[in-house]
Amino acid sequence: MDNQDMPREQLGVCAEGNLHSVYLMFNAVDGEEAALRACVASVAQYIYELSDQYADSAFNGFIAIGANYWDTLYPEARPALLKPFPAMEAGSREAPAIEFDLFVHLRCDRFDILHLVANEVAQMLEDLVELVDEERGFRFMDSRDLTGFVDGTENPRGRHRQEVALVAEGDPLFRGGSYVHVQKFAHDLGKWHRLAVKRQEDIIGRTKLDNIEYASADKPLTSHIKRVNLKDGDGNSLEILRQSMPFGSVKQQGLMFISVCHTPRHFELMLQSMIQGDGAGNHDHLLHFTKAMTGSSFFAPSLDFMASYGA
Ligand code: HEM
Repeated sequence: MDNQDMPREQLGVCAEGNLHSVYLMFNAVDGEEAALRACVASVAQYIYELSDQYADSAFNGFIAIGANYWDTLYPEARPALLKPFPAMEAGSREAPAIEFDLFVHLRCDRFDILHLVANEVAQMLEDLVELVDEERGFRFMDSRDLTGFVDGTENPRGRHRQEVALVAEGDPLFRGGSYVHVQKFAHDLGKWHRLAVKRQEDIIGRTKLDNIEYASADKPLTSHIKRVNLKDGDGNSLEILRQSMPFGSVKQQGLMFISVCHTPRHFELMLQSMIQGDGAGNHDHLLHFTKAMTGSSFFAPSLDFMASYGA
C-alpha cells in the first residue's frame, strides 16, 4: 500500500495490544451537531497527542461514529459501505443490534492514566452527549480470553495490520478510516469450565495450554476457527484485525469483541458463518457458552477527515 499521501489514521485502530482498556458508548444530544463535530475532532486530536506524551505506557485510542448517527453528524459525506450492525439469529444463537452514536476506545499499560483520560474525554463531550455504557477491559494471563484460550494469535502482524484495517482506495474521503464492529459477549464460565479440556479444545480448534492450531483434518466443522477462517472465490483469506479484550466483574464477564477492517463485509460473513453456519448444520459451538449482549457498527474516520469537517 502506498502510504505517501495517506491521511493520518487514529493510532488506536491498528495499535498492538495493551494491559488495560476503557470503552465508552455515548448517545448524542439532539441539535448540537456543529458543536459535537468540533468536539469530536478535538477529542481525536487530544488522544493522538497523548499517544506521544504517554508513549512509555503505550497509550492509544480512537473515536468512532455510529452507523445510524453518521448522517446526522456529517450530512455531507458518508463512508460507502457503512451500514447498521448486521443483526441475525438462528436457533438459540443470537447477535442483536444495539447501536450507539459514539464509541470512545482508550487503551494503555497504566490504568491510572487511562482513568484520568477517560474522565477528561467525558468532560470534553459533556452537555453534547449522554454516557450510556461503560466497560473496562484487561489483559488476562498471557493474552488469553476468559475461557483460558490465547486470543489474537492469528491477527495480522506488522504493517499488514494497516492493510487489513484501513480504507486505502475506492473511497478517497475516507482513506485511513476503518469500519468498526463491537460485540459485548457475556460468557457462561461455569458451564464452560465443566467441559473437559479436550472438548474445549475441539470447540476452539486449538490446544489450550500451548495454543497449537489443530491440523486442518482434525478441526471440527463446528470449531470457532473453522467457522471464522474464510476465503474468497480466489482462495484469498478474508481478514479482520481484532482488538478484543476480556472485560467485566464477577457479576458479568466475557469478551469485548472488536473488529476493525477496511470493509464491513468480512466481519458480517464471519458472524453469519458462526451463527447461521455452513448450510449443512454446522454452526460455531463456542456460542453455546457465550452470548452477545450488544452489537454496534461504527466508522472511525481519519484525523484529517474529522479536522476538516469539525472546523
Ligand atoms: C480466532 C476467541 C468471537 C473472529 C479466535 C481464537 C480464539 C477466539 C481463542 C484463536 C486464537 C486466535 O487466532 O486469535 C473468541 C471468543 C469470541 C470470539 C471467546 C467471543 C466470545 C469472534 C467473532 C469473530 C471472530 C464474533 C468474527 C465475527 C475470529 C477470527 C479468528 C479468531 C477471524 C482467527 C481465525 C484463524 O485464522 O485462525 N477467536 N472469538 N471471533 N476469531 Fe474469535
